Amino acid sequence: MAALEHSHSLQAEAFLFIVLFATTAWVVSTATAKSVPLPPLRFKSTIGKFKILQVADMHYADGQSTKCEDVLPSQFSTCSDLNTTDFVKRMIKAEKPDFIVFTGDNIYGVDAKDAATSLKAAFEPAISAKLPWAAVLGNHDQESTLTRKQVMKHIVPMEYTLSKVNPHGKKIDGFGNYNLEVKGMKGSKLEGKSVLNLYFLDSGDYSTDPNITGYDWIKASQQAWFKETSAKLQKNYKSNPSAQSESAPGLVYFHIPLPEVKIFGSSSIIGVKQEPISCPLYNSGFLETMVQAEDVKAAFTGHDHKNDFCGKLRGIELCYAGGFGYHAYGKAGWSRRSRVVVASLEKDIKGGWKGVQSITTWKRLDDEHLSKIDTQTLWTKTRMSSFED
Ligand SMILES: *[C@@H]1O[C@H](CO)[C@@H](O)[C@H](O)[C@H]1NC(C)=O
Ligand SMILES: *[C@@H]1O[C@H](CO)[C@@H](O)[C@H](O)[C@H]1NC(C)=O
Repeated sequence: MAALEHSHSLQAEAFLFIVLFATTAWVVSTATAKSVPLPPLRFKSTIGKFKILQVADMHYADGQSTKCEDVLPSQFSTCSDLNTTDFVKRMIKAEKPDFIVFTGDNIYGVDAKDAATSLKAAFEPAISAKLPWAAVLGNHDQESTLTRKQVMKHIVPMEYTLSKVNPHGKKIDGFGNYNLEVKGMKGSKLEGKSVLNLYFLDSGDYSTDPNITGYDWIKASQQAWFKETSAKLQKNYKSNPSAQSESAPGLVYFHIPLPEVKIFGSSSIIGVKQEPISCPLYNSGFLETMVQAEDVKAAFTGHDHKNDFCGKLRGIELCYAGGFGYHAYGKAGWSRRSRVVVASLEKDIKGGWKGVQSITTWKRLDDEHLSKIDTQTLWTKTRMSSFED
């Protein structure tokens, strides 16, 4: 339903756009250029929910000719990148998300002959479903014909994406550090405010520090931008009109897990830990930064395809999505999977829509029935005296 409403409003906007420009012989110059400016993300369905589908580690290469890794011997001959495409399409159909986030290693650069072609094929299911989507980079996206900067610059003008290279006018490390606001329900007091803050960061690829080997980390410049953005959003949320006493919750998406994820034992997580945490060897303090910002309730990564758990540390749920792509290492017989997150709005005693009340998550497996597993609540608003009602 939400997707339908979205496409209707887009069609209306597209019509206006055509009328406005019909007399000026203006043409869209490239096939990938956005023809319609996208409306802001918003809690817009009558049920007061906003659903995010996370797709981690597609590892897309050349489509049909790219074979699957780590599937059962009986599955090998009929399995290719097209199975990854098919899984995205089935997830869209089953969950009808409001938004899709691709958390890096979207393409597997080593095997992709042409990065632009692979990117187009990888994101095609979101585009053909006319769903708004965003992407961040992993450590493999730049290994084909485009650099990290070029990959991100190539993604930004694609249809239906809200991805950005970096916020305008900011000199910060990496490519693909940006935030998106999800506005409150239309007609409610919060219709003009971001009631759910989404942050996207580039966790880099490999360390360039000669004294530290291994994966890269989220740099001080990125954290400064994040802190500033979070503070600005919270100030706006708490300002008039319709001042809110608490901050709107924030969700953070990036590719490489934080070093702190190593401390979780199997008893303190929901989901499974089946491989070591491939985090950077240097801890740049991003968990501490998120704790201090106060609005972040969960951070979502990919990178380790055989880990799919969430664990809570210092008030923040740190979650993997589990490996999605078939041309990525995995575990034969252990289904490829995807994570869904739903934020639900609170209603006041008169039935008016308020801010976010709770955030839940589950995963779906790419099996016959897209089995739904590990449903859990990530965050619930603590009840305060409701004078503001
Ligand atoms: C991949 O897709 C083919 C064609 O739809 C299908 O027959 C096969 O079972 C799929 N393989 C896996 C591992 O899902
Ligand atoms: C690397 O370590 C050496 C020896 O401890 C030190 O002199 C140098 O400044 C370090 N380099 C960096 C980039 O930190």
